[in-house]
Amino acid sequence: MNHNLAIAIDGPAAAGKSTVAKRVAAKLSYIYIDTGAMYRALTLKALRENISLENESTVYDILKNTTILLKQNKDSQSVLLDDQDVTEEIRSQQVTNNVSVVAKHGAVREEMVKRQQDLAAKRGVVMDGRDIGTHVIPDAEVKIFLIASVDERAERRHKENIEKGYNSNLEQLKDEIRKRDQIDSEREVSPLLKAEDAIEIDTTSLSIEQVAERILQVVLDCKGEEE
Ligand code: CDP
Ligand code: CDP
Repeated sequence: MNHNLAIAIDGPAAAGKSTVAKRVAAKLSYIYIDTGAMYRALTLKALRENISLENESTVYDILKNTTILLKQNKDSQSVLLDDQDVTEEIRSQQVTNNVSVVAKHGAVREEMVKRQQDLAAKRGVVMDGRDIGTHVIPDAEVKIFLIASVDERAERRHKENIEKGYNSNLEQLKDEIRKRDQIDSEREVSPLLKAEDAIEIDTTSLSIEQVAERILQVVLDCKGEEE
């Protein structure tokens, strides 16, 4: 029996998805796939080409001619946009403020979901995003939905920015997170939504280790049931 599973981790901005997903993947020797990085890379390209981000067909045309590669290094991952390393650049404020507009287009999502499903074709994968449990891997054996209060999520990003030596304004971060959550939750195509069979974990007062441990326990239980 194949004991390698697909683990879907969804939730709003800065709930801890990628940090925890990476840990869980490392513990299980699974592949980690950051789907948000793919939408961010496309947003960067669209911004560079100075097109209207609201124009679905133009954004889609760009995506069709774009390769986005999530490259696994020994201890990290890099994101290659048409062979150029954009790992840092896709985290910029400008990309963050515009990515939800790019990600709301149906044609864009359809193409992205196809690419993501190809990446997740083999089990032994932890994938994080907004629609993984609902659309990308609806048959994932483990589905987790991470949440935390807006205040806590903004505090976490603020702390992270300060540690990296970036300028950071807590109130602005709260606004940005609220706005992005709203667009992601209200869009017509595959909005941010907890899958019916997902386990919700409120991480507001939990450490990264505690969240990772809980997910690993769910994985263990799931494997136990499969035996
Ligand atoms: O890490 P953070 O929460 O800031 O965001 P991210 O995971 O990098 O995703 C950036 C944006 O991409 C989200 O706000 C969504 O608009 C979009 N996204 C999406 O629509 N579907 C996904 N599966 C992943 C990300
Ligand atoms: O991927 P997502 O946007 O959901 O969040 P993230 O980038 O993994 O986490 C945002 C920040 O919160 C990072 O600096 C994490 O180290 C931190 N974090 C935390 O303090 N406690 C947790 N339980 C989870 C994440």
